[in-house]
Amino acid sequence: MQRLRNKVAIVTGGGSGIGRATAIRLAAEGAKVMAADISDLGGRETRRLITKAGGEAIALRADVTKAGDMQRMVQDTVQAFGGVHILVNNAGIYSGEDKRITEIDEAVFDRVLDINLKGMFLAAKYAFPQIAKNGGGASVMVSSIGGVSGGFVTAYGTSKGGVISLMRSLAGQYGHKNIRVNAILPGPIDTPIHEGVNIARGMPPHSRQFGKTPMITNRWGTPEDVAALIAFLVSDDASFMTGAAVTIDGGSTAL
Ligand SMILES: NC(=O)c1ccc[n+]([C@@H]2O[C@H](COP(=O)([O-])OP(=O)(O)OC[C@H]3O[C@@H](n4cnc5c(N)ncnc54)[C@H](O)[C@@H]3O)[C@@H](O)[C@H]2O)c1
Repeated sequence: MQRLRNKVAIVTGGGSGIGRATAIRLAAEGAKVMAADISDLGGRETRRLITKAGGEAIALRADVTKAGDMQRMVQDTVQAFGGVHILVNNAGIYSGEDKRITEIDEAVFDRVLDINLKGMFLAAKYAFPQIAKNGGGASVMVSSIGGVSGGFVTAYGTSKGGVISLMRSLAGQYGHKNIRVNAILPGPIDTPIHEGVNIARGMPPHSRQFGKTPMITNRWGTPEDVAALIAFLVSDDASFMTGAAVTIDGGSTAL
């Protein structure tokens, strides 16, 4: 499928997990891709995988919490590919704090909100005017089922709930500029994001103590499962979708 021929896409957090799989999928569908990540190695590896498969990609070490980095991410993309049509606002961390509000460090709360929410604000702030300038396009913001479920992931859940709210603001503000904006709410997806949290909890890096699904396979999602949804949402197949929050969790919230 070449649904994204002649499109230019930026993927934040494009150096690992969902971001890498999305960058690869968008490139396979014809897009030219900027893989921006705080990990230089991760971004460059994504670029290598895309170019090896015959696609076009560039990579940039960029921190989503820094306005200057987000400006540069957009400028470099325009310089390399002539414009921007798609922003996949994906970079994020999972704090896995699992604590009551009285026990959460203020610094942890600040860091999670800074990366997961302010980071998406900054990427959109600089990318959206450029997308509008290029005649419009689409954006997907990666939230989480944690953003609507409550419980003990206070900082993470708050940040991801905020992402849904930010998505709706952007969808409302940019519809008339021909930019569609949607959020996705993944459930348990098999990426490196869980490893650090597992280790911090004294568990093996790949342990899976949450995320049961009602499906017969009871499997976790793969980054490629999520990339397929993102590719659909940024393509013309989703041309009547904007302002939506789409869950992709194998039914785990249905249990
Ligand atoms: N894996 C899951 O189960 C799951 C579930 C729901 C939502 N999500 C969300 O999906 C998104 C991608 O996560 P993933 O699971 O692929 O994890 P991941 O750790 O594999 O990838 C996240 C990427 O973001 C990058 N990143 C972190 N901080 C950054 C910063 N300040 N600036 C730029 N890049 C930064 C990391 O270097 C990494 O490459 C996150 O927003 C996460 O919250 C993941």
